[in-house]
Amino acid sequence: MSRGKVIVTGGCGYIGSHTTVELINNEFEVVIFDDLSNSKEFIIDRIYQITGVKPIFEKVDLSNPIEADMVYKKHSDAHSIINFAAFKAVGESVEKPIMYYKNNLYTLINSIEAQKKYEIKNFIFSSSATVYGNPDILPITEKFQTKRAFSPYGNGKKIAEEILEDFNKAFSNFKTISLRYFNPIGAHESGLIGELPNGVPNNLLPYVTQCAAGVLKELQVFGDDYNTKDGTPIRDYIHVVDLAKAHVKALERMILDNMEDNYEVYNLGTGKGVTVMDVINTFEMVTNKKINYKITHRRKGDVQALYASSEKAKNNLDWEAQLSLKDMIETSWNWEKSYRCI
Ligand code: UD1
Repeated sequence: MSRGKVIVTGGCGYIGSHTTVELINNEFEVVIFDDLSNSKEFIIDRIYQITGVKPIFEKVDLSNPIEADMVYKKHSDAHSIINFAAFKAVGESVEKPIMYYKNNLYTLINSIEAQKKYEIKNFIFSSSATVYGNPDILPITEKFQTKRAFSPYGNGKKIAEEILEDFNKAFSNFKTISLRYFNPIGAHESGLIGELPNGVPNNLLPYVTQCAAGVLKELQVFGDDYNTKDGTPIRDYIHVVDLAKAHVKALERMILDNMEDNYEVYNLGTGKGVTVMDVINTFEMVTNKKINYKITHRRKGDVQALYASSEKAKNNLDWEAQLSLKDMIETSWNWEKSYRCI
């Protein structure tokens, strides 16, 4: 029996497609809204190959209020929206702030306007650990003050959270959960879906896998003069399948009416800090492939160390990351190989 309709915006993207798989596995009916600006339609067939169910697909630019209203009206029988649709290249957002604020915030505002109009009760927002800036104390809990992020991409996440908080203060019959992701990596174990960066990747792991695949020549390690065990920065890498499962748990919390407040935020990480060199060394060990890398200068905007306390998610969502760094790297490499037919 279906547990009802869930709209997944950006459902053809990296985290959206993995979440769609988990929603279908948990008997939800999924409708994907995506403009395919940074994703491919073949992902829908891959989701079908994994789950045996083909989600409904609407190609739509949600930053356009008329288009957005039309699709939300068509699917107004949904009980929930999970919002992934956003541009995500941090460096590009610094060069093109208007494009980023316009796309990411118009999409959000048009979606919550439709949510209100069509009484779609629940909303999950895909946020980021970037809202914490450069914290002095670790691990990071949800009680930490959010800060203005270095990039328009990151600052847009902070602004979006504030908009959602205000929306939920004004309209108490709606519920929202913002999920603050640490560093999502990995891919589905089938090798059928994974991260598909547009052009040269900005993030560490797709860069590493593309180097190993021979697509890129050399990885630059951005600085080894940080105050960490090997001098390279620490992050909390989390498997995208664990992350996807957290969305199902958050949805269940809303549906079961278990929320303490109608706006809640959760960190999603493993709680384990891993350096860039740990990632490279584990990759080489797991895959038996050498990574050609060079230590260079620090990247502007990078912080020394970030890792989460996910205690709140454990207590309230009954969720904990299960998969290891080895699993993350194995599945990422498997996906890279299957995508490139290596
Ligand atoms: C970045 C964004 C963050 C966003 C997240 C999405 C910045 C400052 N932050 O996080 O806002 O939510 O991606 O996944 O851009 N590294 C290298 N060489 C590379 C690439 C990365 O050494 O070619 C290092 C970085 O210095 C960093 C670590 O790898 O220490 C992880 O980098 P990355 O994957 O880009 O993620 P974040 O910077 O943590």
